[in-house]
Parts: sequence; structure tokens; C-alpha cells
Amino acid sequence: MILPIFALGQPVLNKVAAPITNEYEGLKELIDNMWETMYHAKGVGLAAPQVGLPIRLFVIDTIQIKDEENINDGFKKVFINAQRVNEDGDPFVYEEGCLSIPDIRGDVERPSNIRIKYVDEHFVEHEESFTGINARVIQHEYDHTDGILFVEKLKPLKKKLIARKLENIRLGKISASYKLKFAKYK
Ligand code: NI
Repeated sequence: MILPIFALGQPVLNKVAAPITNEYEGLKELIDNMWETMYHAKGVGLAAPQVGLPIRLFVIDTIQIKDEENINDGFKKVFINAQRVNEDGDPFVYEEGCLSIPDIRGDVERPSNIRIKYVDEHFVEHEESFTGINARVIQHEYDHTDGILFVEKLKPLKKKLIARKLENIRLGKISASYKLKFAKYK
């Protein structure tokens, strides 16, 4: 089932999300729905707060962008209760976008590598390192589970330039090719 995506301005997007256990009700169905919602919106990743749930869960499929981004290995994975072990490597600038903030893209600088611990959809533990675009998508989705949006990491001038557009998203005065759930309509 395709879920509505919560848009910028929804308080759930600014909350630090909570870990879950394997008893979490309807987890399998939620994950299936998140994949379906993500692909329908042509996204590379989707975090649970973006479908209104303040829990530490996100899904990512970089296999879709493997060729256009020229990366060797894409992956498709479910990350639950992810914890950053460390981030290092040269600062890397990449233009990010977010399904909760349609039509806005902007350069964000982050370390090029990330090492994280997480459990997968079967609650099997993993600790892995990622680099380049793969790391970037994880860093972006991980931030969602800490209540952080990429627009907060843009340069001050860029923030100024997009301020009005962001306000229109908060007010629901925009549309997208997928269903959005706005904090308020005007
Ligand atoms: Ni996002």
C-alpha cells in the first residue's frame, strides 16, 4: 500500500525517533509499504518519520542509481535501530533532495565514509562501512531518524534563496507526483 509522505512542517520530521523491537506490530507490512511508497515516489531512500512514524527504521535502494552515479555496488537494505559507529574521510559535496521537501535540491557537505551498526528486517545484527553515494544516502536517511533534514545543512545563502519555497511546502501550497501530507493547508 502506498502511504502518504509527510511534508516539511510536520513535527514528526523533527523528532528524535525511538528504537523498536521485533515485537513491533505490523513491521513486515510497514516495511513492504515503505518500499512501495519509496519506489512510487521515485526515491532512493525513505525513513519511517516520513510516513509519520517516529521510529528508527529506514529503507534504501541505491541499485537504482548505480549506473547514473557511476558507483560499483549499489545495495538494497532495511536498516533498523541504526547507530553511527563513526564517520570519516574527506568532506564530500553532493546535491541532495528529499521526498518530504519536493523540488528542492542543494549541495550538502558530509564526510565521505560512514560505519554503522544496525539490525535488518529479521533483527540480525550487522556492522558495515559504506563510502561515496552509498554512504551519502545512509547519512541522509539516518539524519531523518534523528529529526534532521538536509535543508538545515545548506549554506546560509542557499537557505535564504529557498526560504519562500520551504514556506510554501509548510503551507501545503505545492504539489508533487505522489501523495503528500502537509502540516497545514492554506
Ligand atoms: Ni529525506
